[in-house]
Amino acid sequence: MNESRTWDALARRYDTIVRVFAQSYPAIRERLAQDLDGRARVLEIAAGTGQFTLDIARVATRVVATDISPRMIERLSVAVDEADVENVEAETMSAYQLDAERGSFDAVFCANALHVMEHPERALREFARVLAPDGLLVAPTFLHGVDGARRALSRALSVVSPFVAHTRFSEGTLRALVERSGFMVERCEQLPGLFPIGYLVATVSVKQDQVRDRGPARPQS
Ligand SMILES: C[S@@+](CC[C@H](N)C(=O)[O-])C[C@H]1O[C@@H](n2cnc3c(N)ncnc32)[C@H](O)[C@@H]1O
Repeated sequence: MNESRTWDALARRYDTIVRVFAQSYPAIRERLAQDLDGRARVLEIAAGTGQFTLDIARVATRVVATDISPRMIERLSVAVDEADVENVEAETMSAYQLDAERGSFDAVFCANALHVMEHPERALREFARVLAPDGLLVAPTFLHGVDGARRALSRALSVVSPFVAHTRFSEGTLRALVERSGFMVERCEQLPGLFPIGYLVATVSVKQDQVRDRGPARPQS
């Protein structure tokens, strides 16, 4: 769990630092309230301190909020307790090895995290495994590779700040990664900000469904 150490160290300051990048968070909240409305079981991946967890809890029946960093999950749990919300469980979990049965969630929500993961494709394949056949992936993702200026800014930030983008996505490369990981992209909308966000919604592809029916219950590595 190497990735957890960096984020553990950031957890206490995260809510302050993220304000610099969070211009489009209100637009994400509006959209997720529609996309996840009425979903019975939502798995939130890389939930951090819970920037979106309570928004999901308002519209879904049950939320399992997860993150690789125990310190992030501690802070998220405090926020959930303070809000006196009863339909959220918080668990430390790696996106690469989800502790969940195949097909056990109606939606997976993963905000602003695919770009910081060292192996986003592994994570996406896990999302496809745990989603029900008619399940929905909602993955708003920072696009650090949308143009030359943003690429340069992203490279500079990775030297001077702990926010390192392992993948500098454009909308096209984000869509392509999601599609080759077992999904069909339904839509991807760019939300403006210092780095724009690709608000991506996808469904599990038929091909992936067939692979799941034959494949092992859990990835082998
Ligand atoms: C930029 S923060 C996003 C947090 C929150 N979703 C938000 O939008 O404010 C990225 C989060 O991804 C988590 N993370 C990084 N790698 C991960 C992995 N492999 N599995 C699960 N979580 C991971 C970090 O611990 C961190 O909380």
